[in-house]
Amino acid sequence: MKQDLLGLKGMSTDSIKNILDTAKTMKLILSQPNKKTPHLQGRTVVNLFYENSTRTRMSFELAAKYMSANAANITASGSSVQKGETLIDTARTLNAMGTDILVMRHSMSGAPNVIAPIVSASVINAGDGMNEHPTQALLDMLTMYEHLGSFENFKGLRVAIVGDAYHSRVVRSNIYGLNAMGADVCVAGPATLLPQKMEDMGVKVTTDVDEALKDADVVMGLRIQLERQKKGLFPSVREYHKYFGINEDRLKLAKKDALLMHPGPVNRGVELSSSVVDGEQSVIDDQVTSGVAVRMAVMYLLSRGGLY
Ligand code: CP
Repeated sequence: MKQDLLGLKGMSTDSIKNILDTAKTMKLILSQPNKKTPHLQGRTVVNLFYENSTRTRMSFELAAKYMSANAANITASGSSVQKGETLIDTARTLNAMGTDILVMRHSMSGAPNVIAPIVSASVINAGDGMNEHPTQALLDMLTMYEHLGSFENFKGLRVAIVGDAYHSRVVRSNIYGLNAMGADVCVAGPATLLPQKMEDMGVKVTTDVDEALKDADVVMGLRIQLERQKKGLFPSVREYHKYFGINEDRLKLAKKDALLMHPGPVNRGVELSSSVVDGEQSVIDDQVTSGVAVRMAVMYLLSRGGLY
């Protein structure tokens, strides 16, 4: 039976560890001059993106190509979606072309859950609305894992996630994944950008960024979605940065060797100052490399029914 990756909600700790260990091996391949492997030889991977993307789309494409798959991309703006074709008909059409893995990003929460049961291809959620972005959280955890050295060190790891949690699918997938690994997650941001009852997800929630950052092992900024600014959810980006942005002084509240992370794209001078983006504690570029490795691992495991 085919497998899908729709989210990290409910994924077992063992499955997450298996993906991260597989991705660690894939990352070794990425450091070689010849990155070609036969893991997906003859398979076809299609990226169906209804929203813009740099990292996710490109890393899925490269991951597929590194593993010798046929890789193709389609965006809503350049497809028959513009002529009114529905998501379901679009997915069915791509499936009928012999797609083995359908990677999809959509603005509607739950869109991949609608498509997965009606196609024979394995569906991977590359971000759905405000719901989940599972491969982002997996690549974040791979980056942490490589610094921690062992799964044991996730237990009690203090992870502060700061920013627009309300609109963020990244924060939800990270909460599910990090909770499964035994980390202590604290989410911080302005009250208007914190979802109600986020505590019920098993995390601490605060509007006090300094409190969240104190003694943190990992500090993760979330993108402030500037398009939401029109809705008046915070007074101005300048004020946001003053009260909630992570700068060098704030980062000093965290542990000395704390990792500074961000899923990208970063609004420099808003959620993070340029000095911390480019600083010694930043692992943002490493996250990008982890993204290719995690997507290789996920597609490889899915293709052999070994993701769960
Ligand atoms: N982090 C992330 O999903 O980035 P992209 O939107 O560029 O894919």
